Amino acid sequence: FSFKRPSNEMPNDFKVNSVERKELKFKLEEYSKKVIEIPLIINGKEVRTGDMGEVRMPHNHKHILANYHKAGEKEISMAVEASREAKKEWENMPWQMRALVFKKAAALIAGPYRQVMNAVTMLGQSKNAYQAEIEAVCELVDFFEFNTHYISKMYKEQPDSTRTVINQLDYRPLEGFVFAVTPFNFTAIGGNLPSAPAMVGNTVVWKPALTAVYSNYFVMKILQEAGLPSGVINFIPGDGAKVADVVLKKDDLAGIHFTGSTTVFNSMWKKVAQNLEKYKTYPKIVGETGGKDFVVVHPSADNNEVVTGLIRGAYEYQGQKCSAASRAYIPESKWAEIKNSLIKEVKNIKVGPVEEFSNFVNAVIDQKAFDKIENYIDYARKSPEAEIIAGGTCDDTKGYFISPTLILTENPKFKTMVEEIFGPVLTIFVYPDDEFEQTLKLVNETSPYGLTGSIFAKDRQAQLKAIKELRQAAGNFYVNDKPTTAIVGQQPFGGARASGTNDKAGAEQNLSRWISPRVVKETL
Ligand code: ALA
Repeated sequence: FSFKRPSNEMPNDFKVNSVERKELKFKLEEYSKKVIEIPLIINGKEVRTGDMGEVRMPHNHKHILANYHKAGEKEISMAVEASREAKKEWENMPWQMRALVFKKAAALIAGPYRQVMNAVTMLGQSKNAYQAEIEAVCELVDFFEFNTHYISKMYKEQPDSTRTVINQLDYRPLEGFVFAVTPFNFTAIGGNLPSAPAMVGNTVVWKPALTAVYSNYFVMKILQEAGLPSGVINFIPGDGAKVADVVLKKDDLAGIHFTGSTTVFNSMWKKVAQNLEKYKTYPKIVGETGGKDFVVVHPSADNNEVVTGLIRGAYEYQGQKCSAASRAYIPESKWAEIKNSLIKEVKNIKVGPVEEFSNFVNAVIDQKAFDKIENYIDYARKSPEAEIIAGGTCDDTKGYFISPTLILTENPKFKTMVEEIFGPVLTIFVYPDDEFEQTLKLVNETSPYGLTGSIFAKDRQAQLKAIKELRQAAGNFYVNDKPTTAIVGQQPFGGARASGTNDKAGAEQNLSRWISPRVVKETL
C-alpha cells in the first residue's frame, strides 16, 4: 500500500478561554515547575555521562528547565556503532513499516503531545504560542506526513522494461550512517533532519543544538513511543565541534543533514575534505544555512501589505529565522507613508516573556546571540551612514530582550544591509522610483546569500521583472507576501549560494539525497 497526499495540519489560534489555551497554560506551568534530566539516547537506551550543561529560559535566564548530559568521544563512537548495528534490520524492513513509525509520531504530536511540544518549545526557545504551534506541531507533523507520501510516490517510479529485459530500480539507502546536525530556531527542523534519512532506511547520529536540546529531547521520546527501533536515531547532545571531529572521522559516514550557520557548514565541508580518503563512499552533504533575506517594494505596491509583510517577516520569532526579512528596498515616493506606519507598528509591538500570549516578540536565544545583535545595533547607532528610526533597546537583565529595531541607511552596502544578524533588526534603503531595475540588480549583487526574498508590486510587469532578475537571489521567492513561513507541501524550502545546497526540506528533492539507487537488469 501507499500513502495518499495528506492535507496540512492546521494551527490553532489559542482564542481566550479556549480549551487549547487552557491546556497550553497548564503545560507551561507544569514544565516551568520542574527541572528535568536529559540523557543521551543511544541504541534506544538512556546514557549518562555526568558532563553536564543547563537549559535556561531565554526570557528568564535564572530559571533552569533541564540539565543535560553531553556526549564524549566514547559515547559518540557508541552512537555510530549503534547506527551501524540497527541498519541491518531497519533497511530491510518494508518501507511502509518504517513510514508507520513516523505517521504514528505525527499522530502523537498532533494529538496527545500537542501542548507539550508547544510548551517546551516556548519555554526552552522563547517562542510565542502561535510561532510554536505553526512549527513544533504543524510543520513537524507535515514533515512526517508529507515525507511518507513523497516516499510512496518516489518508490513507484521504475525504468522501462521490455519483453526480454526487466529493469528494476532498487532504492537503497546510503551505505553507512547519516549525521544530522540541527538548529535551535525550529523544533520541526530538529525532528525532520534525522527523520527524513531514516524514513528511507538510513540510520542516524543526531546532534541537536544545545539551545534546543529541551524540545528536541521530547521529539526523540515521541519517536521512541511511536515504535522507532533502537539505534535507528541516536540522540547525542554535545559540544558541536567535538562531536563533529569524532563523527566526521568515521569511515562509514555516508551523509550529513545540516541546518545551522554558514560558518559551521563550511567547517564541516573542510573536515570532510580532510578525511576523504577514510570514507568508504562519498558522503552526501545537505545543508541549509544562513540568509540575508530581502523585501523589494515597487511603486505600485499596496502599503498596508508591505507594512504587514515587513513587520511579520522581520520580527516574528525575534528575526531568528533564516528566512527573516532583514533588508528592505523602498521607493522614495512611498517612503514617508510607509515609514510612519512602520514606526507606529513597531512601537505597538509588545516585547516580553512567552507566558503572556500578547507578547509578539520574546527573548533572543542566548547571551551570545544577544551580544552579537547588540553589537550590530551599536555599530549602526555610531555610524554616520545609518540612523536608528525605531527600537534599538537591548536589555539582558532578566531575559535576552531586544526591541524590534528599524535602521535607515543611504548606503546599500552598509554592514547591516549585507551581513546576517539573526535578530529583530530590519535595515531599509530608499531608492529613487525610476531606478527599480537598478535596484533589482543591487539586491542580487549585494549579499552572498540566496535563501528567501519578496517583491511587493501590483504591476504585473514589475512582478515579472523581479521574478526574472532575482532568479538566483532566492530559493524561495514571494510575490506580495513576507519571505518567511514556507509550508510543507506548498513551498518546499531552501536556497543556494551561501545559504546551502538547496535540497528543499520536506520534499522529494531532499528525500532523494538519502538514497543511492541501484539498477538491476535481468535478461530473460
Ligand atoms: N522554513 C522556515 C520559513 O520559511 C525557515 O520561515
